[in-house]
Amino acid sequence: MTILVTGGAGFIGSNFVLDWLAASDEAVVNLDKLTYAGNPENLASLRDDARHVFVKGDIGDYALVLDLLTRHRVRAVVNFAAESHVDRSIHGPEDFIQTNILGSFRLLEAVRCYWNGLDDAEKNAFRLLHVSTDEVYGSLAKTDPPFAESNQYQPNSPYSASKAASDHLVRAYHHTYGLPVLTTNCSNNYGPYHFPEKLIPLCIQNALSGKPLPIYGDGQQIRDWLYVKDHCSAIRRVLEAGRVGEVYNVGGWNEKANLEVVHTLCAILDELQPRADGKSYAEQITYVTDRPGHDRRYAIDAGKLERELGWKPAESFETGIRKTVQWYLRHQDWVNNVLSGDYQSWLDKNYANRHG
Ligand code: NAD
Ligand code: TYD
Repeated sequence: MTILVTGGAGFIGSNFVLDWLAASDEAVVNLDKLTYAGNPENLASLRDDARHVFVKGDIGDYALVLDLLTRHRVRAVVNFAAESHVDRSIHGPEDFIQTNILGSFRLLEAVRCYWNGLDDAEKNAFRLLHVSTDEVYGSLAKTDPPFAESNQYQPNSPYSASKAASDHLVRAYHHTYGLPVLTTNCSNNYGPYHFPEKLIPLCIQNALSGKPLPIYGDGQQIRDWLYVKDHCSAIRRVLEAGRVGEVYNVGGWNEKANLEVVHTLCAILDELQPRADGKSYAEQITYVTDRPGHDRRYAIDAGKLERELGWKPAESFETGIRKTVQWYLRHQDWVNNVLSGDYQSWLDKNYANRHG
């Protein structure tokens, strides 16, 4: 038996592939375009592992996807592949439309064609799990209840709008063609292999390099943080036992304001790797111009997943964030390798006009 994972060289996808092969002998075909966010180094431990087949390619390449599905007799697809950074979607939405909407559409078409050719038993057992985000639900006010699966879609950024479009296509392929799909909408992840353009790894790295820790606006925006390995366990559980056609929200019950997250990072770094001058890393916190259209609060009600499938996160924010800081301290070589020329030009583009 084999599963096809798309985007498996990115942050969550590579954690998923590593965890999958640590827990089972079922082979993984890993299709990834290796954009700036895809990093084969994340999968270095699988270099000699015959259960992992890496293919560099695009989910929008219908012929390639159909060939992989057919040749490997794939029984399930887990779709992580996407452009994933909100700030990049503000500077340049085109790639988000290409991959998240058109790419997902072509992937669905290839899967539909393959699935139609399976025998009845294989058809019934087949699954396509689409990995999505809580950002499709829009922004919450302070006292609103957390997002349930029944919440209206109100995406506010080009990123979340493109993910919302892909979610709608996945839903439509179930209702129209009977494709056995599952969708998960997860809150903000953090943990190993997180690309250092996102808040948590960016602040760890900037702290260690003596650079400013950029807080957008007043820093009181709230995100619901989930340790990446808990997201991976939720996806495995939904793939195994989720009801076909259903949506499952995934979250960590960990609502934190950005400023609190950054202060927590600073306190852990102060303890594990104190600054040479004895001052706190918190001195590096700098308020910068806010993100346009910045969503104020995300919060996930993961009750359905717990009630129906018995899933709960294993990590609290306190345990997960400490593991994450420790991972970055031990993997400075990984970080230095991703801080390429491209990454530097992104920092110039995103931060040059945000005056502190
Ligand atoms: P990421 O940007 O780290 O990784 C995305 C991966 O997809 C990269 O390896 C990239 O090379 C690959 N990719 C991009 N375009 C591709 C294409 N056209 N064809 C094949 N591969 C392509 O993203 P991530 O944070 O790991 O997120 C993975 C998925 O989870 C995304 O769909 C994202 O929307 C969703 N998600 C992320 C979070 C989060 O906090 N990071 C939360 C909820 C949901
Ligand atoms: P991010 O990690 O980009 O995830 P998302 O936008 O998908 O939630 O950002 C998390 C929060 O941190 C978000 O409210 C924006 C904020 N943020 C900053 O304050 N400074 C930064 O430099 C970055 C990258 C994000």
